[in-house]
Amino acid sequence: MTDQLSAATIEDRLREGFGQPLRFYSSIGSTNEEGLGWAAEGAPEGALLVTDHQTAGRGRWGRGWASQPGRSLQFSLVLRPLLAPDDYGLITTALGVACAVAIDDISAVATRIKWPNDVTVKGRKMAGILVESRMSGSAIDAAVAGIGINVGWRREELPEEVADSATSLYIESGRDIDRVDLLEAVVRGFERRYLSLQEPAGRESLIAEATQRSWVLGRRVRIRFAEGETIEGWAAGLLANGALELDVDGTMRAISVGEIEQLRPA
Ligand code: BTN
Repeated sequence: MTDQLSAATIEDRLREGFGQPLRFYSSIGSTNEEGLGWAAEGAPEGALLVTDHQTAGRGRWGRGWASQPGRSLQFSLVLRPLLAPDDYGLITTALGVACAVAIDDISAVATRIKWPNDVTVKGRKMAGILVESRMSGSAIDAAVAGIGINVGWRREELPEEVADSATSLYIESGRDIDRVDLLEAVVRGFERRYLSLQEPAGRESLIAEATQRSWVLGRRVRIRFAEGETIEGWAAGLLANGALELDVDGTMRAISVGEIEQLRPA
């Protein structure tokens, strides 16, 4: 990798707004884990944690997130959302759209969003998002929105377990993309969309963007819930809070959390 991901290069680009204050680590367990701790100590909204390498990166459903120095963009933002708990899915939606748009703009690689939290290219995963919350009693005190983007991975470097399902910006574009450029674009794109969630027009516009980029809508899907139960139906649309509207034999169901297990062509 030829880029210079460091505290100084990031500070230079993200001088105000989201991205301040910044903590940069050449290596850390998990930026989400560290972000939750920082939030407990009072980190303000927009505080950013970036690392070149994670040794215990966290994925959804208790899975890990693989990392290799120099090859990934991995960061987390501390948020203090003024959102109803039912609307928290919009944070994932906003980060997914910001990531997809930034990748398209910087590399001209055409991305799609696989609801709820993957950014994909030709069906292969390029980025994943994990939003975790910190409770204070029964209220949500802070959220930490983390994203990992496979930037410079060569095909032969992909971990064996994801070799058939993952891809990287290098693999798709044939060139190394500067991670500082990408970080700046994703953070700024997310900040704008996230702050606009306070207005109905901002939410509508986000759902419209997510709909336009969705890889899921119009497909027959099977969704697996945390308890192992599954449900099948047609992905009909995205609801105002980012939930998936699933047509199950003519009955519409709103799905807020789940994992798409299987997709067949529409
Ligand atoms: C997934 O697709 O399962 C979500 C992956 C999220 C990975 C990112 S990398 C930065 C942040 N820190 C973590 O430990 N996880 C998220």
